[in-house]
Amino acid sequence: MGGGIVVFGGGGRAGRAVTAEARGRGYEVTAVVREPARYPALGAEGVTVVRGDVTDADSVGSVVGGHVAAVHAVSPFSGPEQGFDTLDPDFFVKAADALLSGLAATGVRRLVAVGLFVNLLGADGRPLMDDPAVFPPEIRPFARAHTAGLDRLRAHAAGEDTVDWVMLTPGGGLEEGAPCTGRYVFGGERATEGSQPTLSYADLAVAVVDEIERPTRHRTRVSVTGVE
Ligand SMILES: NC(=O)c1ccc[n+]([C@@H]2O[C@H](COP(=O)([O-])OP(=O)(O)OC[C@H]3O[C@@H](n4cnc5c(N)ncnc54)[C@H](OP(=O)(O)O)[C@@H]3O)[C@@H](O)[C@H]2O)c1
Repeated sequence: MGGGIVVFGGGGRAGRAVTAEARGRGYEVTAVVREPARYPALGAEGVTVVRGDVTDADSVGSVVGGHVAAVHAVSPFSGPEQGFDTLDPDFFVKAADALLSGLAATGVRRLVAVGLFVNLLGADGRPLMDDPAVFPPEIRPFARAHTAGLDRLRAHAAGEDTVDWVMLTPGGGLEEGAPCTGRYVFGGERATEGSQPTLSYADLAVAVVDEIERPTRHRTRVSVTGVE
């Protein structure tokens, strides 16, 4: 596992894309999932699959040691059909706390997290999630939980031994199965107005692994959009 990348949510859509991109560049990858038996294909592809819970600091600490970086591609909510009865509003806050303490305790210095586009700001300076024309109000609890996780990362005091995190937030939709162009553009806190080229999960993964290999953004959140 030495020198490899540990991917929380390695069995999910973003996690699989990051895993494939990292493997393609020659990294060893450890995929952290809640039930390893559900992911036989990952093991067959040469990925080390381990059981873990991103919201539990001891669990995080037990799997991250020896890696050069960690990726947070976990979501407790995979689609509207799932509903919100079981959504913990503090899920992303607990994940931020567990990751920051588990990584710091084991000397892993880089964390790249995947964000959610509706906590970017619109032209009026308000989060996109507050605009019902952009985001269905019924999914707002998930968006609020996500935003609370970002706020928690931001609240983490900087220090020499702390984790150098970055959150890469898709500037719009994320498309599964769309081709990898290898191109993307970073923006800031605001969503760019007008329609944007959709970002593929594969290009998001390129940006994630680039930020591990050659970090350009530190302790901040940026938007990532595709390029025509
Ligand atoms: N346009 C956008 O902005 C956009 C679009 C899509 C996704 N996203 C964001 O991208 C990130 C990844 O989303 P995705 O589409 O890849 O989601 P996904 O396909 O639903 O995968 C999420 C993974 O999280 C894992 N997970 C859930 N709870 C966990 C826990 N407690 N500990 C460890 N793993 C856990 C699940 O794995 P197991 O079941 O194996 O545990 C699942 O495979 C999320 O932050 C999501 O909000 C943003």
